[in-house]
Amino acid sequence: MTTTDQGTAPSSAELAGANATESARLGLSSTRETPGTGADADRVAAVVGAALEGIRAAIRDHKVTYSEFDAFKRWLIEVSDTGEWPLFLDVYLEFEVERVAAESRQGSTGTILGPFWLDGQVRLQSPATLPMREDEPGTPLVLAGRVTGTDGTPLPGATVDIWHTDDEGWYSGFAEKPPAGNLRGVVACDEQGRFEIHTRRPAPYTIPLDGPTGKLTTIAGWSPWRPAHLHLLVSAPGHRTVTTQLFFTGDPYLDSDVASATKPELVLDPQPTGDGGGVRSDHDFVLEPE
Ligand SMILES: [Fe+2]
Repeated sequence: MTTTDQGTAPSSAELAGANATESARLGLSSTRETPGTGADADRVAAVVGAALEGIRAAIRDHKVTYSEFDAFKRWLIEVSDTGEWPLFLDVYLEFEVERVAAESRQGSTGTILGPFWLDGQVRLQSPATLPMREDEPGTPLVLAGRVTGTDGTPLPGATVDIWHTDDEGWYSGFAEKPPAGNLRGVVACDEQGRFEIHTRRPAPYTIPLDGPTGKLTTIAGWSPWRPAHLHLLVSAPGHRTVTTQLFFTGDPYLDSDVASATKPELVLDPQPTGDGGGVRSDHDFVLEPE
C-alpha cells in the first residue's frame, strides 16, 4: 500500500489501523483458536519477565539515552493513537507465535493470519468467483484443490475463506479504493471436498508507510514489502482450521517479507490456462482432527 494524498481523507495507516483494532478488540481474529483460559501468574511472570529483560538488555548493551527513551515512549503512544497495534504485532511478532504453534500440529503448513481478515464475507459454492468490480484489473487466477483429513478422506463440509489484495496491493475494508467485500469470500467445497476459486492475481504491497509501524520500518532501513499472497482459512467440522497464505514463485519479495511469513511449501507456480491470459494453480489442504 502507498500513502494517500486525498486531502482530509484518512491516511492508509488510519484506515487500516482502525479496522484492524476493532476486529482485535472484538476478539474476531482469535475465534479460530481455543480461547485463552485467563492469566496464570507463573506464566505471566515468566513470559513478561523475559520480554522485559530483553528490553533492559538492549538498553544496557546499546547504552540507550533519555532522549531515545522519550522517543520510544512517543512512538508507543502513536501506535496506540493510530490503532496500529494489530499491524505491528502481526508483522513483527506473530510469525514466532505461529512457528511455536506449528511444532505440535499436523496437516497443511500454516502461516500468520495478519491484521486484514474480516468476518461475515459472502458465502459461495464451488466453483466460485470472488466478488469483484466489473473492470477488476489484474491477471485472472484460478486456485483449485481438495481438502482432506490426515487420513486422505475428502471433507465435503470444508470451506475456504479467502481474502487478498487487488492488482494494486489494496485490501477491501482497509483502503478507500476497493469496494467492501472486494476479492473476499467463503467458498464451500463440493461433495468430494474440492474447491475452484476464480479471482485476480494479487500484488505485492508495503505495510502502511504513513503510520508509526511504517516509519519505524523505514528509519531502520528494513524492507516494508510483503510478497503477493492469498490469505486462506481452511475449515471443516471436527477439524482444526488451517490459517495460511499462498505466495507466487518469482516474486521479488519472497526472501524479504516484512512479516517473515513465507515458507517454501507455500509458494505456488501458476501455469497459463490458455484462455484469455489467465493462470491456474492447484493446491490441496490437509486438516487434522480436533
Ligand atoms: Fe496480506
